Amino acid sequence: MARNFRIAPSILSANFAKLGDEVDNVLRAGADIVHFDVMDNHYVPNLTIGPLVCEALKKHGVTAPIDVHLMVKPVDRIIPDFAKAGATYITFHPEASEHVDRTIALIRECGCKPGLVFNPATPLDVLDYTLDKLNMVLLMSVNPGFGGQKFIPYVLDKARKVRQMIDDRGLNVSLEIDGGVGPANILEVAKAGVDTFVAGSAVFGAAKDSDPNRYDTVIGALRAELAKA
Ligand code: DX5
Ligand code: ZN
Repeated sequence: MARNFRIAPSILSANFAKLGDEVDNVLRAGADIVHFDVMDNHYVPNLTIGPLVCEALKKHGVTAPIDVHLMVKPVDRIIPDFAKAGATYITFHPEASEHVDRTIALIRECGCKPGLVFNPATPLDVLDYTLDKLNMVLLMSVNPGFGGQKFIPYVLDKARKVRQMIDDRGLNVSLEIDGGVGPANILEVAKAGVDTFVAGSAVFGAAKDSDPNRYDTVIGALRAELAKA
């Protein structure tokens, strides 16, 4: 398979007290994208980070794409702030927006790449009318809100469906998966048509010491599995 695979560590599981160093270290270890989980204690039962932290990472010198995963409701108010803060992708859950088409257009107008996120049990029908307007489809393979949960296997079937839709329409849309991904299952996920892999606890939980090279082993293991696809 000649897909261009990308690894997107979720900083949700990073050490927030050393966030700049953590991001530098995973990127140095070979990660491609920074997955940035935004939770509002309303759409999901947890509270994380906002545009100020995104801006701080940019000022720190992060040049890799920042993949902002909005788990917030409402969505639109915060989009221009993330665009100004340096987001590359902005993805949102269709359930969290009253007007999905408008939100996609807003992300684009702000200069960012829009994506839609589907919870495990959320059907894909919104894609019938939106897929050609997106840069990313993100499939949740856990229920959103927390890192370290178990991968939900039926999402593989959804991944195959979305891959088919993208290929049938000849679109250049990334297919990303988020939740419970690690070296043990990344190959299976890749074979279902996914090209961009979020991994939080599998990456940042890999080692707990202060060795700046501690992420090399796990990123290397993920790449080695992907090489078999
Ligand atoms: C969950 C977040 C994920 C989370 C994944 O709501 O969207 O990005 O960090 O964590 P792991 O890889 O540990 O399942
Ligand atoms: Zn996420």
